[in-house]
Amino acid sequence: MSTEFKVKFAERMNQLPPYLFGMINKMKMEKRWQGDDVIDLGMGNPMDPAPNTVTEKLCEVAADPKIHRYPTIAGGMKNLKREIALYYKRNYNVPLTGADDVICTIGSKEGISHMCLALLGPGDTVLVPAPAFPIHVYAAVIAGANVLRINLGSEDEFLSQLVTMCKSLYPGPKLLMLNFPHNPTGILASRELFVEVVKYAKRYGLMVINDFAYAKITFDDYVAPSFLEVDGALDVGVEFGSFSKSYNMAGWRLGYCVGNEQIIEGLAKIKGYYDYGIFSAIQIAGIVAMRDCDADITVQAAAYQHRRDVLCQGLVRMGWEVDIPKAGMFLWVKIPEPYIRMGSVRFAVEMMNRANVAVAPGAGFGEEGDGYLRLALVENDNRIRQALKQMRQSLKEIDQEIEEGTFKLEGEPS
Ligand SMILES: Cc1ncc(COP(=O)(O)O)c(C=O)c1O
Repeated sequence: MSTEFKVKFAERMNQLPPYLFGMINKMKMEKRWQGDDVIDLGMGNPMDPAPNTVTEKLCEVAADPKIHRYPTIAGGMKNLKREIALYYKRNYNVPLTGADDVICTIGSKEGISHMCLALLGPGDTVLVPAPAFPIHVYAAVIAGANVLRINLGSEDEFLSQLVTMCKSLYPGPKLLMLNFPHNPTGILASRELFVEVVKYAKRYGLMVINDFAYAKITFDDYVAPSFLEVDGALDVGVEFGSFSKSYNMAGWRLGYCVGNEQIIEGLAKIKGYYDYGIFSAIQIAGIVAMRDCDADITVQAAAYQHRRDVLCQGLVRMGWEVDIPKAGMFLWVKIPEPYIRMGSVRFAVEMMNRANVAVAPGAGFGEEGDGYLRLALVENDNRIRQALKQMRQSLKEIDQEIEEGTFKLEGEPS
């Protein structure tokens, strides 16, 4: 490679710290290439397959030579959009038309990113809960906006910070980014919280996005409310949904955004420049998922609930403090003393190197997350049990090294 030619990145690249999960993922892949069996509790990447009927439909439609062209409508096929509207009516009693109040996206991450580009620019402020799934912060950063964090405590605390920020900032914040059920913490929103959010959104001219990726991964009979259920929500905001988690279609890249037509029009305009829509065969298979696969979602959620119980019970037996989540694909757990002093990144690296277990360091979700780990429920029960065993063994080793003085809890690995 020539050493004389210097690539000069855009200034916005300096605003993007190294993607921590990319680093952990790379370590995992390198270990696997060396033949180690790494148990992956790191990434929320479903390992179970999409429903058979959905995959069969994809194969059937993909065999049609006429389907391989660019989709005729970039924002999503009429029938898929109508199915999404029916899903909202059936599940949340939200009356969508399925026309201008729905747009299909290349996964919800893409949709959220481009939505931020449509709504935000330099001088704008967005409020994001802390900790946060990284794209909720960095989509706004890439768009050039300022990000202010709202700590996720009780709903009252959350609302009181929201009001304080709306009252004290000039110009006021433009957008509130929500994500309930929340990744990484598993925190839920009550319907009442959404009612209050809509009230303040109207009072302070704040647009609202709710990332509802974990809408259907819920446990113990808990039903997650949609933001759009609340009166007036369609006036102020939109909700993103995903096929990745409910239907195990993460690699297919299919999501959607529903709600306020003007906001959706903005996303459609930006996407019109960037992409041509989603492969039509995937969209048609998506119709089958939405229309016929409610029972598959129930089975999948039950599997996650069982894995949650196996993991929680194992951690409690190890003496860890665990809050049992009612939704999502993760446990958000505090690293116990004395290991918390390592920080979450080093803890994750030690678990990778010693236990062959990948975990997501809480610091990857913002500095508020350091001291925590996010453990994904994607591996099966037996592999979760095996991961717990390997972690227990590695922590014993670390305990012994601490006693011998060969393991320093603070600073670099010894
Ligand atoms: C909160 C949240 N939103 C969005 C996504 C990405 O979803 P998609 O696959 O639809 O882009 C994830 C994936 O982990 C997520 O946790």
